[in-house]
Amino acid sequence: MKTYAIATIPGDGIGKEVVPAGRQVLEAIADSSSGFRFAFENFDWGGDYYRQHGVMMPADGLDSLRHKDAILFGSAGDPDIPDHITLWGLRLKICQGFDQYANVRPTRILPGIDAPLKRCKPEDLNWVIVRENSEGEYSGVGGRVHQGHPIEAATDVTMMTRAGVERVMRFAFKLAQSRPRKLLTVITKSNAQRHAMVMWDEIALQISKEFPDVTWDKEIVDAATARMVNRPATLDTLVATNLHADILSDLAAALAGSLGIAPTGNIDPERRYPSMFEPIHGSAFDIMGKGLANPVGTFWSCVMLLEHLGEFDAAQRLMGAIEQVTANPTLHTGDLGGKATTAQVTQAVCNLLGTAEQRLAA
Ligand code: IPM
Ligand code: MG
Repeated sequence: MKTYAIATIPGDGIGKEVVPAGRQVLEAIADSSSGFRFAFENFDWGGDYYRQHGVMMPADGLDSLRHKDAILFGSAGDPDIPDHITLWGLRLKICQGFDQYANVRPTRILPGIDAPLKRCKPEDLNWVIVRENSEGEYSGVGGRVHQGHPIEAATDVTMMTRAGVERVMRFAFKLAQSRPRKLLTVITKSNAQRHAMVMWDEIALQISKEFPDVTWDKEIVDAATARMVNRPATLDTLVATNLHADILSDLAAALAGSLGIAPTGNIDPERRYPSMFEPIHGSAFDIMGKGLANPVGTFWSCVMLLEHLGEFDAAQRLMGAIEQVTANPTLHTGDLGGKATTAQVTQAVCNLLGTAEQRLAA
């Protein structure tokens, strides 16, 4: 029997609630499958760790993760620590340290979810956003000079490399090719940003030649927000820079009904390092510690984790169980207008998965 080594990093805020819930669901899916099991190792990195040690994770932290098959992450963010410290000290350290250059963000309107667009049928909104995850606006290049003086200046430089753009474009075209509509929209802003974004467009055209069966178009990022709202069915797979995709993916999640549902995979497509899966909702201090967090974003991230491991049958069964649960309004958490707790939703998903014996008997 195969054993997958999984690192869990709950991090901060409701990450501490949804990651254990995710682990419970992964254990249930392993119990109900005959082919594999999980060996979990938990890492208590994040804001509390920072208060004790002055760093978000230990200096050799990446080495403890390097040989895992995947990472399940909660969130990084603490009311008392500046955001750039929590972000750069933990999540980005892992994403960049393991060169997880493709961030994949699927969005669908799940059964039972009341999405805000009046005219949008659930089948009209089935997107995957591919976010460049290693450079661009998040490259960390820049600095501050003359701090505190009237002539103070600060820069954040968008860094795009040919290799970095080519690899994420190729990944996005390949992903689009694997989906039924074979449709890719390349998000750009080359009308205003005349260096990096122009190279981005040129590389999109170049890579498109490798995928003659993929239909693709370009959309300027601001126009893309309007298109997502007005003509959602014209989109399928999207590829965008780090910051553009950050913004578009929140819009996508909101249009699908709640940020609490949206999943992410930070993927190293070459599999040199472990990939990392996480809900996109963040730490949500306002509800943390109350058992009210929606664990569905984490469960859907677990589906992506299972797919990444090649456990497609288990992934499909877990997605099926999630959809049965969202279809039932009594199992909706507060973000969806319901009263269910994290524990109730988790238990409901686990019950639907059953055990291997129950599945054989059924
Ligand atoms: C995301 C988040 C992060 C980001 C925040 C927490 C820094 O919004 O994963 O989308 O901007 O990358
Ligand atoms: Mg974001």
